[in-house]
Amino acid sequence: MILTKISLINFRNYSKCSIKLNDKVNIFIGNNAQGKTNILESIYVLALTKSYRTSYDDFLKRKGSDSYKIKGNLKIGQYSKEVSISVLNNDKKVFINETNIKKISDYVSNLNVILFSPEDVETIKGAPSLRRDLLNIEISQLYQQYIKNYNEYNKILKMRNDYLKLIYTNSISDYRYLDVLTDNLIERAAYIYKERIEFIEKINKNLTLIYKNLTTTDNLTIIYDSNIDIIDKSIEEIKVSLKNKYSTNYNKEIMAGMTLYGPHRDDYRFLINGNDIKIYGSQGQQKMAMIAFKLSEISIFEEVTGTKPILLLDDIFSK
Ligand SMILES: Nc1ncnc2c1ncn2[C@@H]1O[C@H](COP(=O)(O)OP(=O)(O)O)[C@@H](O)[C@H]1O
Ligand SMILES: [Mg+2]
Repeated sequence: MILTKISLINFRNYSKCSIKLNDKVNIFIGNNAQGKTNILESIYVLALTKSYRTSYDDFLKRKGSDSYKIKGNLKIGQYSKEVSISVLNNDKKVFINETNIKKISDYVSNLNVILFSPEDVETIKGAPSLRRDLLNIEISQLYQQYIKNYNEYNKILKMRNDYLKLIYTNSISDYRYLDVLTDNLIERAAYIYKERIEFIEKINKNLTLIYKNLTTTDNLTIIYDSNIDIIDKSIEEIKVSLKNKYSTNYNKEIMAGMTLYGPHRDDYRFLINGNDIKIYGSQGQQKMAMIAFKLSEISIFEEVTGTKPILLLDDIFSK
């Protein structure tokens, strides 16, 4: 997949800007605060419809402007397509070849990007939700089904949490509706687990060698920590495990007023020579581990989509 051109209107510090890109490698050089990261960010936003630096679209609009637009021209084999995103006030629209795509989940996965930015070490050091976000974003780029399942999972999760609270406050003793919600949740959860575990397995296949090449000595692997027992990663087996977990813990969940088990509670760890680098790793090791993770993704993306993704490397040689 080759991005041949990127055009920006009122994005960050650019009022109007159009850049023709080389088929292979493009390097942006400039002083501090000139807008290098903003260009990479715009490509990321074009791919994923949101930024990794802010969750507010308003910050992406050039100061004083009420809209922004990003347009990219892509070449995939002999095919070309144009993708674009526009935000006017709070109205976000995405287009493929100038056709408005109504659902964001049908749009994401059209332009595949893998970004490395200096903030990425936070993914290792920070809260588990950051690590889950990374998995969700990357797998969403590969399978449209994943975002759909994930969105549905979150909706059912909220309903289930609300209902668990209601059971407690209203002393409801009939759990039939809870069972319906639980079964619906399990359907989506099992799929999410399966995709995440397979993704981490594929990363691990590449990771050790890539990390060794970067550092010459150490062994890096990722361990997926699930709050349910997953012995066999078939969807059916995961469903059985989940069902078991929920049916033996519903009292605990009612007392807590929330769903305590499921993919929204999972985490994964990066181990170098068996040690968790969140705790024992140096900053350099954490940064290298993230770079190795991103590089490991390239062949996975290529295998699934049939084309190499676009690699965005920001300040890779800093620190
Ligand atoms: N919404 C915005 N409107 C106008 N300028 C912005 C906006 N957001 C960031 N900037 C400007 O962009 C510049 C930083 O750009 P950045 O791409 O991060 O720089 P660098 O070249 O160092 O990577 C700063 O000058 C900042 O003020
Ligand atoms: Mg920068």
